[in-house]
Amino acid sequence: MRSGTLLKTIATFLLVGAAGLVAQENENGRVLYDRWCAECHGAEGLGDGSAAASMLPRPRTFSQARYQVRTTGSGQLPTDDDLMHVLNVGLPGTTMPGWPNLSDQQKRDVIEYIKSFSRFFAAGPAPEPLDFGSDPGGGPEALAAGAQAYLTLECEACHGAAGRGNGTSAPTLEDWRGFPIRAADLTEAWALNGGSSVNDIHTRVLTGLDGTPMPAAIDAMNSGVVSPDEVWQLAHYVASMGPRERPRLREVVRVERASEGLPQDGSDEAWGDIEAFFFPLAGQVIEVPRNFAPTVDGIWVEGVHDGSEMAFRVQWNDPSRSPDSEWDEWQAKILATMDLDGFEAPALDSTGAVTVRWPDAIRLQFPFEVPDGAERPYFLGGTTRQPVYLWTWSSNDGVGEGRGRGYGSVEPLPGELQGTAEWQDGRWTLYLRRPIAAGADGLTFSEGVPIPVAFSAWDGSSGETDKRAGVSSWYYVLLEQEPSNAVVVTPLIAILLTGAFGLVLVRRAQGRARA
Ligand code: HEC
Ligand code: HEC
Repeated sequence: MRSGTLLKTIATFLLVGAAGLVAQENENGRVLYDRWCAECHGAEGLGDGSAAASMLPRPRTFSQARYQVRTTGSGQLPTDDDLMHVLNVGLPGTTMPGWPNLSDQQKRDVIEYIKSFSRFFAAGPAPEPLDFGSDPGGGPEALAAGAQAYLTLECEACHGAAGRGNGTSAPTLEDWRGFPIRAADLTEAWALNGGSSVNDIHTRVLTGLDGTPMPAAIDAMNSGVVSPDEVWQLAHYVASMGPRERPRLREVVRVERASEGLPQDGSDEAWGDIEAFFFPLAGQVIEVPRNFAPTVDGIWVEGVHDGSEMAFRVQWNDPSRSPDSEWDEWQAKILATMDLDGFEAPALDSTGAVTVRWPDAIRLQFPFEVPDGAERPYFLGGTTRQPVYLWTWSSNDGVGEGRGRGYGSVEPLPGELQGTAEWQDGRWTLYLRRPIAAGADGLTFSEGVPIPVAFSAWDGSSGETDKRAGVSSWYYVLLEQEPSNAVVVTPLIAILLTGAFGLVLVRRAQGRARA
């Protein structure tokens, strides 16, 4: 009897202890969740946290348990490893961050907690990953087969021929909550939610992205429309559509000195030899009305000059060629969905139909005078006291120059800037040309002197106008000098030289000490 009591005591202790431990774990998960996740995902996991209305895509609704980055079949729950992966690296291209600062145990706790929002996890057996087979490899033939599978499986309908998210169905897409959703720009693989490797892309294509219109290719594969190898080749093809890694950000656009003539337009082959510089854009969220989910998330800039004139090519991806009535439904949905933060959208009539269509636009902004030190005008379009010198382009009005005293206040200037723009397959190419010396108003560029520059972009079909822009911070444009020129030491070069000379001096001193 006595040993029975002891056993009972031990059993009770274990049970209570274990229960206490479980409660403790959930408590840890809850505390972590409330602290780090609830602001976006909502206290009850409904995807409705206080910051959610400014986001596109919206934070996940955990009570519904529809997950995108899975190794499991379409419509199935993710594995714990899948969720751990998302917590480790986040979802690139969205506001969902990675959580490298949480310990593995903390991540496991918070995963248990988000699973508890849905009864599905407790109901069934643990989800199992699919068998993904093995990659037959890439190469030109694989890419050709992949391109064919892209057509066979009608990826183009949403993602467009070049993969920039401009397919004919793109303006109508919405997620399971009815929010507008962009068909991913496959040429920016670094911003794909589930990663940019061939493996990652293969997994996403095969399993689909639950809760979005992106279908799972596994059904087409199982019914023989495409073979398992062709799905791998499709993944190789998608991965080849653009750079895998986010282009390295450099501070300075180097404007090369042309050995012979300037390129004549945006499609001139001479651009092929000129280095392109990538600058990321972020939503303008400092002044109201803010724009939390800008369409244009980066631009490429190339420049060349011949000592008297300079030419630039500016390129950026925008799936709509605004103004375009095909995108009315999209525009109406964006304006109805997003937190417009004081922006009076005159674009919808009482029936919710679009009445205003804005153009696409871009601005390059410079100071009127080359600053001595690091001082530059206010980066959001200048101010009354310190205006900015602008190169403007819009799909309605073409190219112009202007004096900017804040976003809404642009006074046109008579200038010699010329340019043309062309939209093709979800990408704008803008060609700009101007004498290096300015006319009456404007900025005279000088060779070898870094000139501050900043960029803004607008996608009219997403209701972007005025302050609802995508913006960059200040960078530099540097016109290369003729090699024979005397060395003019500019501030930027001085900084670089100081570093380099410093190193030389240290090396010399070390050498001497050794000797
Ligand atoms: C700044 C906002 C933000 C915060 C903070 C945030 N998330 Fe998210 N999260 C998102 C958004 C937005 C998505 C959906 C992105 C999409 O649909 O592509 C998301 C999606 C997810 C997903 C779904 C992944 C999938 O495969 O579908 C999980 C899991 C997740 N978040 C967990 C968390 C956890 C856990 C925390 C806290 C440690 C957290 N999130 C904090 C914004 C946030
Ligand atoms: C009905 C429209 C539609 C079709 C057809 C479609 N997709 Fe998508 N796809 C989408 C949407 C929408 C997203 C973005 C989902 C998001 O933002 O979370 C997407 C996302 C993706 C992604 C990014 C996954 C990630 O990690 O974020 C890849 C890769 C992709 N699609 C490839 C394909 C391929 C290949 C095909 C053809 C087999 C295809 N898609 C067919 C709508 C579609």
